[in-house]
Amino acid sequence: MWVVLGLQWGDEAKGKFVDYLAGGFDAVVRYQGGANAGHTVIYKGKKVPLHLIPSGIFHPGCTCVIGNGVVLDPEAFVKEIKMLEELGIETKGRVWISDRAHLTLPYHKRKDEEREERRKRKIGTTRRGIGPTYMDKYGRTGIRAGDLFYPEYVKERLSFNVENPDEVFEFILSYRDFLLPYITDAVELLHRFLEEGKRILFEGAQGTMLDVDFGTYPFVTSSNPTAGGVCTGTGIPPTAIEKVIGVAKAYTTRIGEGPLPTEFPPEFEERIREKGDEFGATTGRPRRCGWFDAFQVRYAVKINGVREMVLTKLDVLDGIEIIKIATGYRLDGVELSSFPSSPGTLERVEVIYEEIPGWEGSVKGIKRYEDLPHGAKRYIKRIEELVGARVKWISTGPEREEIIHV
Ligand code: GDP
Ligand code: IMO
Ligand code: MG
Repeated sequence: MWVVLGLQWGDEAKGKFVDYLAGGFDAVVRYQGGANAGHTVIYKGKKVPLHLIPSGIFHPGCTCVIGNGVVLDPEAFVKEIKMLEELGIETKGRVWISDRAHLTLPYHKRKDEEREERRKRKIGTTRRGIGPTYMDKYGRTGIRAGDLFYPEYVKERLSFNVENPDEVFEFILSYRDFLLPYITDAVELLHRFLEEGKRILFEGAQGTMLDVDFGTYPFVTSSNPTAGGVCTGTGIPPTAIEKVIGVAKAYTTRIGEGPLPTEFPPEFEERIREKGDEFGATTGRPRRCGWFDAFQVRYAVKINGVREMVLTKLDVLDGIEIIKIATGYRLDGVELSSFPSSPGTLERVEVIYEEIPGWEGSVKGIKRYEDLPHGAKRYIKRIEELVGARVKWISTGPEREEIIHV
């Protein structure tokens, strides 16, 4: 049982890596987040952004499970299933939604919009209704996928939640027939897989720095993308997890508001954004870009118990003469010993950089470690030393095969 999760602010190329690994697994499981995620997989030469369906879907032998920790938007789900069917992918009997997963309904999306509009300092949410759905979940007023088996019960609960319960009830009913065949007791399903010795891969959405507990609160999402989220989001015990693989980009990106200490100056940022095609897979917004922050990734490695990591998009750094790596932060002249929890502190810190020479030529599409230029190897080694984990895979392009397994 392996976990793949993001070590930065999301968009680390988790989708590409999960698709690459999934051939060796019987199931891929999402454990948190919702349609705020955008995981890009290249299938038959086409860029496919997945929002709710796990990135194992392109391997016919792989069961895809949406765990109880995920919030499911019926509209987004139907759209995605139809898109996959147009690509010739059968989803019935392969895609399962946990009966304990909460539903994101139109009023959640509206509330997300309204709250975002009203905020003086915006979070820059994806406006997919994520925060309000989790608010209802923890406020114990949410509607769960399994409730669709009992429409009358849904109606009764809605009268407490919303002013227009009939309208919302009609909306839910209109999706009921489509959704029902996909809903199952995912705890049972996953534990049966476990007993049968099947291999399960857990796919994180977002990233450690967007975690509601460990991220740059309040500029975070409303779930736990970190390793602990796997257990609460699926019903799989911590003792069943063998390995947590962290995915980090060779530089840093962030979409939405909040501190990003290593952010590039505008001109250079533009250059990397173009080269790395750094535009959101869900909202199309430009991503903010910065240097690799080893101080931040070290913190993420610690929280998740990561020993092995994937370094992605190394090709985007081709041709940069001097590459900077953040090794620590200083506050009022004093070096910090731990990653700060307050955004106020993060906005004031002075970043300590180390400079190392880049490499000539391109690493694009390289599949063997030996073939990497010396400068690229030096960069990877230094990252390993600074973050305290081994770089076991290096992604050198968006395609499934463009990867080095060290
Ligand atoms: P995720 O949310 O973590 O799955 O990442 P996204 O899919 O949102 O963003 C990653 C983007 O980088 C996608 O457009 C991928 O196709 C692309 N990508 C993945 N790996 C590489 C790589 O090694 N090099 C380059 N240049 N692009 C990559
Ligand atoms: P993947 O899985 C990058 C960001 C939003 C915003 C904050 C809160 O593709 O890595 P939300 O809609 O969740 O309430 O927004 O989190 N965010 C992401 N950033 N990648 C994601 O997912 C994200 N999902 C949410 O931009 O700053
Ligand atoms: Mg993404």
